[in-house]
Amino acid sequence: LDKFVIIAAGGRGERMHAGTPKQFILLSDKPILMHTLSIFPLAIPSIHIILILPADQIAIWKKLCKKYSFDIPHQITEGGRDRFYSVRNGLELIGDQCLAGIHDGVRPLVSCETIINAFDEAEKYGNAIPAIPIIESVRSIGNNVSHPVKRDTLRIIQTPQVFHSSLIKKAYKQKYRSDFTDDATVIEALGEKIHLINGNFENIKITSQNDLIIAEALLKNRLI
Ligand code: C5P
Repeated sequence: LDKFVIIAAGGRGERMHAGTPKQFILLSDKPILMHTLSIFPLAIPSIHIILILPADQIAIWKKLCKKYSFDIPHQITEGGRDRFYSVRNGLELIGDQCLAGIHDGVRPLVSCETIINAFDEAEKYGNAIPAIPIIESVRSIGNNVSHPVKRDTLRIIQTPQVFHSSLIKKAYKQKYRSDFTDDATVIEALGEKIHLINGNFENIKITSQNDLIIAEALLKNRLI
């Protein structure tokens, strides 16, 4: 099956409080988003990349690509007001008979192994969702009391989440719901069973200034 990845970078990154949109902040002398795009063809040389950007950031991105001589082929389309609408726009560019990965633009540290495994498993099971165990103690809160939760029953969910394209396209025809926090929740609403696979611990979602420091250090030590 043909393989596509939709890189969702249609958000404004307001939690970062930086002037530059989050995905354009430099990490080891290159915008975060260029690191993210670069890893996919290393894992799967034939992959097609679709990049979702806010309409007003497309020209800035094209200028950055020239400035950094970034030549990895990709198609660009506009984002929507929520991640859900951004992904829906990207899916419109994909046919019914392929594998579609959906990945957060702000996760440049996904490993080749996670990517390859996610596409292989999605081909077999219809979907593949990377997850990692929780190493901290956790509690659930409410009504002024808190209760410990058995951490070995919990997982942190990452991207790329990979699907048969017919399945994910159908799922994204549903009406938006605020509890659609990732793509797995969207297909689950169709009654689909979620197939979890191993993610990688370095695959953090860069959200804060602290994450940038950690990502920079991890990137320097990455052995691809
Ligand atoms: O908002 P959050 O940090 O969870 O976003 C995760 C990813 O989804 C980011 O890479 C962000 O750019 C993307 N996103 C998007 N379109 C939006 C909002 C977020 O593609 N409207």
